[in-house]
Parts: sequence; C-alpha cells; structure tokens
Amino acid sequence: MIIKTVKELLSSTDYGSKVEVKGWVRSKRGSKEVAFLPINDGSTIKNIQVVVNLTAFSEDTMKKINIGACICVNGELVQSQGKGQTVEVIAKEIEIYGAFDEAYPLQKQGMSLEYLREIAHLRPRTNTFGAVFRVRHAMTYGIHKFFNDRGFYNIHTPIITGSDAEGAGQMFRVTTLDMNNPPKNPDGTIDYKEDFFGKETNLTVSGQLEGELAALALSKIYTFGPTFRAENSNTPRHAAEFWMIEPEMAFHDINDNMDVAEDMLKYLVKYALEHCKDDLEFLNNMYDKELLKKLDIVVNNKFQRMTYTDAIEVLKSSGKKFEFAVEWGVDLQKEHENFLVEHFKRPVILTGYPKDIKAFYMKLNDDGKTVRAMDVLFPYVGEIIGGSQREEDYDKLLKRMREMHIPEKEMWWYLETRKFGTAPHSGFGLGLERLILFVTGMSNIRDVIAFPRTPKNAEF
Ligand code: 4AD
Ligand code: MG
Repeated sequence: MIIKTVKELLSSTDYGSKVEVKGWVRSKRGSKEVAFLPINDGSTIKNIQVVVNLTAFSEDTMKKINIGACICVNGELVQSQGKGQTVEVIAKEIEIYGAFDEAYPLQKQGMSLEYLREIAHLRPRTNTFGAVFRVRHAMTYGIHKFFNDRGFYNIHTPIITGSDAEGAGQMFRVTTLDMNNPPKNPDGTIDYKEDFFGKETNLTVSGQLEGELAALALSKIYTFGPTFRAENSNTPRHAAEFWMIEPEMAFHDINDNMDVAEDMLKYLVKYALEHCKDDLEFLNNMYDKELLKKLDIVVNNKFQRMTYTDAIEVLKSSGKKFEFAVEWGVDLQKEHENFLVEHFKRPVILTGYPKDIKAFYMKLNDDGKTVRAMDVLFPYVGEIIGGSQREEDYDKLLKRMREMHIPEKEMWWYLETRKFGTAPHSGFGLGLERLILFVTGMSNIRDVIAFPRTPKNAEF
C-alpha cells in the first residue's frame, strides 16, 4: 500500500475516497458528540483534521488519544466545513500506535528554545523544528542542484585526516591508543607510529586541501561534508561539528570566485522562498517579522564588494565607538561586520585582507601585505562564507608555509600540485548552519542542526 503523507492528503480533492492518516496528535478539542484531532506527520507544517464521532468510539480509546500520541486513522476524505483547511477526514477506525499516561514533555504553549534543546529527541515534533529541518533539507538539495546544474562534481573528502587545513590547531584527535597506557618514544612523548594509522590523525577542519587536488584535475568540484573544530567559543554562531560546502574551481580568479559565491547565495535564498513558503511564513510570524523582507533584500541587491582596507576606513570614519578598536591589521569582529552590513543595507564581500590574519594557502597580492581572501558578510550571521584565490606558485607557497610553521613534509602531496601542472584556482567555504540561521531567522546555531555539538554538549 502506498502510504500518503499529510501533505499529499491535504492537496487531494478526491472527496469521498477512503484514506489512511498516520501521525501525531497536535491538539484535542470538541464537544460531547464530536472530537477534532489535528494530525501532523512532519511532511508539512500544516495539520490534517480528523473528525471523530464519539458515539462510534469507546471512551477508553478516546482517553488514550492525548496530545503527542501517535495514531493511524482510517476514514473518508471530505471537503472541510471549517475555516483554514480544505479537506478533513471522518474517522471510521482508529489504531493507536503510541499512547502514554505521563505528562507530555511538549506542552502547547510557552516552551522556550532553551528548554527545547534539553529535549532535542522530541523537539522535531514542534512546528518550529519541523520548519527548520524542512528548510535545511531544501537548502541541502538546492546546493547539490546549483552545483550539478553548473557542471561541478561532488567530491567526498576524508573526515579523518593527518593535516590541519586551516593551520589553526583546533582539531579533535582520532586515536585507538589506550589513553591510560599509550606507547611512548624514548623522550617520553606518545609514539603515534603505534596508532591505527601509524601517525597522528584528527577530524578534518575543512575538505579544501583535498578539494584543491580534485579541482586541479576535474576543474570544478565541490565538497559537502561534516567539519569539526575544537574552538572553545560558546557563541550562537559556532558549533564544534558543522557542515561545510566547499567549491573549488580551476581557472577562476578572486573575482570569478566572488561571482560564484554571490550567485549561489542568491540562488539558495530564492530556492527557499519558492519551495519553503509555508515554513518561512510561519518562521516570519514566530521569530522575525522582517524575515521575508531580509530574504528579498539578498535576492534583489548586488552585494557590496570592497577591500578590507576600504572597510577599515568606513569603520574608522563612522564615528561609532566599537568595543574592539579598529586599526588596519586587526581581525574584524562581529560588531564591525554587523556595522558594515547595516551601513550598506545588503550583504558585503570583503577582499584583500592582511596576510597575517589569514591562512597560508591564500594568494599573496603584489603589495606583499595582503592576500586574495574574500569573506561574505550577511545580516545577523556575519561571516557566512570564507574563501580565497589560492597561491599556485610553488616557491611562494613554500615560503608562506615556512613563515607560518606549516609542516611542509607532511603536506608534500599538496605542494606537488604546484610542482606538476599548477593552475590559477579559487574556492570558498559556506557554513551550512550559518546559511540556515539566515534563511530561517533563528538566532542560535543550536537550533538549526538536529543534534548540536558545542562545548560540554553531546547528549543526543
Ligand atoms: O572561513 P573558514 O574557516 O574557511 C575555511 O575553512 C576554508 N577552508 C574554506 C575554503 O576556502 N574552502 O570557514 C568557512 C565557513 C565560515 O565562513 C563559516 O560560515 C563556517 O565555515 N564556519 C563555521 N560554522 C559553524 N561553526 C563554526 N565553528 C564555524 N567555523 C567556520
Ligand atoms: Mg573565515
């Protein structure tokens, strides 16, 4: 039998037909003669209303059908008399899959997002999390579609790695050694030659380096995978485990790179507006009355492109007192990024960052001071994308790696791509959760990934 979802049933006009509805009871109201049960199965934010003639069902059965219970209803699809729905189901038979006597942890009103994080195993059953996860799915699909339609190939880069792609030392170790009794070298340090891979390994912070190897063969590739960072920053925008999309493109310079990033973000926001209308309207009403307007601004405006140096001038001449002082050379803080986005009233792409605050692989500009980096700054979320043109010159790259203490011996394979048939190339990384934060109007990264991993938090 083909099991129809609530979404499919709601769009049916096959009045009088026999249907089966399976889902969770969202509320229960009615009179002595009749009960109304809105049922939701997560296929859409909308519920389908089941109408129960109480003379046909025992009191015992009805007692078990509480809010949160899971039921299967066989009945007749009819045109609805009530407001707000087009069809409803007159129950003929009800099978109870999941009833319970205890108080349901999901009460109807007044549950804070903080409380819902403590019951992350049940929160997908709320309207909010149903909406967020459906939008997340749509964005995942949209990302694959965007790249596939443009001739990019998806590459699966490793999750366990021996290199620190960002050179920031924020990695989670992967080992099978006995932590209580690890094998030691004569000098007392741990002997990783005895470990599973015969060397030190970690969870990846980025698939970029392997992505570059693929781009220097297949021209246009993208990765889409989990990424791990042991940065102890307890902020609403950082997770220890997040998903990153990293396109890498041969023969693209920094301007081409910006074009792809801007096209992709516009495409995705438009995709959400077209495919997630019900969910976005709900989120707009619940959390951010300006949400749909903000999404439109991204779709309909050319992003502001400027250099880091010019941005520093804008910040300095703003007359605004920032908590972190603005000087050429400093890393931009959230407050600075927010100011720029609000100032230009649109997303901003900054390029030409000082080399000292960026990763070793970025292409050095002729001034010897700045690199061809680009950060895309969005309202509220700040940096949504980080990327650059890559240093394709062997000697310059080696020099930069030495200056920044990147272990060149371990990265021999990365360096060899510059030795054999190097090519100008560029790429960037989009943080999926940052995109979902922006598109859903949610304000904490813990609420846009089903089971967040943040400091001291890995319960579910
Ligand atoms: O700027 P990042 O560190 O760049 C890279 O990792 C490059 N290898 C990307 C590339 O050029 N291929 O990270 C890229 C993006 C950020 O802009 C942000 O959206 C997201 O990844 N991100 C995080 N998202 C959630 N939690 C964290 N801890 C994040 N760190 C970075
Ligand atoms: Mg960055």
